[in-house]
Amino acid sequence: MRVGGPADSLVHPRTVEEALAVLSREGRVFTLGGGSNILVSDAGVRGVTMRISKCLSDVEFLSGPGNTALVKAQAGVSLARLSGLAMRRGLSGLEFAHGIPGTLGGALVMNAGTREGEMKDIAVSVTAVAQDGALHRRAGAQLGFSYRSSGFAGGDVIVECELALTHDDTTRIHERMRKGWEARKLSQPLDRPSAGSVFKNPAGDFAGRLIESAGLKGYSVGGAMVSVKHANFIVNTGGARASDVFSVIKEVERRVYDTSGVKLEREIRLVGQFDE
Ligand code: EPU
Repeated sequence: MRVGGPADSLVHPRTVEEALAVLSREGRVFTLGGGSNILVSDAGVRGVTMRISKCLSDVEFLSGPGNTALVKAQAGVSLARLSGLAMRRGLSGLEFAHGIPGTLGGALVMNAGTREGEMKDIAVSVTAVAQDGALHRRAGAQLGFSYRSSGFAGGDVIVECELALTHDDTTRIHERMRKGWEARKLSQPLDRPSAGSVFKNPAGDFAGRLIESAGLKGYSVGGAMVSVKHANFIVNTGGARASDVFSVIKEVERRVYDTSGVKLEREIRLVGQFDE
């Protein structure tokens, strides 16, 4: 969203061992992926922030049984790079991730996805540093995936994962990526800073439809505005503060509840101090 204050202290571990050392020294840290689905308060983040993008980004392709391949990737690799690498190798499964900003680690925590697919469809195992300070590998049902959510808690630091992909024709994979991306460009305000969908879709309905019905398209506080193109996006029209974004979020929650009786659940995560 291009808003929010500074971290007291920012560390970039270059290896899993360095990440483990930071965690054993500091205890709890805030782990930052690509920063694309969070709202950081204007006062910033206290304590240590560990940034895993631009480091911990090794990717290894291994052949699997039959028509499958296994990708071992570290959490800091961007979804953009990973989906491009898979496409060039003729590996299908990550087409949906083309155009989703952020890192693999963040995408796993959120179970990021689109209607074409989500992380839970391809994730085989995830290795994370748990709150006891040790590395744990989880697989299958232990990953706890559901709509935009996983079994990973705030204190877990994902370091790597294994994804299962299938062999397919590169041209066909490329075409599916292009189509999904073109469709999203038509309906979403991708030309302005935002944090993607602000709210989860409630069962049987759409947050965007409810927000539009409440008459909130174009509603703004300071530089934060409910997008006119897609009502479930809040865009930074220039010079927004996190407090402006938060005021818009609160107003949307209040007015949607008043008009439809639906309590919207936030998809974006708030980081730092906000007065609810
Ligand atoms: N709609 C409105 N007004 C709006 C926006 C949407 O009435 O301002 C209606 C549309 O007409 C449509 C329905 O709401 O009938 C759904 O809209 P859309 O097709 O744009 O999809 P979405 O449910 O809003 C979801 C994901 C997106 C993902 C797209 C495409 C959630 C919360 N959002 O959006 O994910 O890109 O499908 O697959 O599940 C994200 O999570 O950050 C994200 C962008």
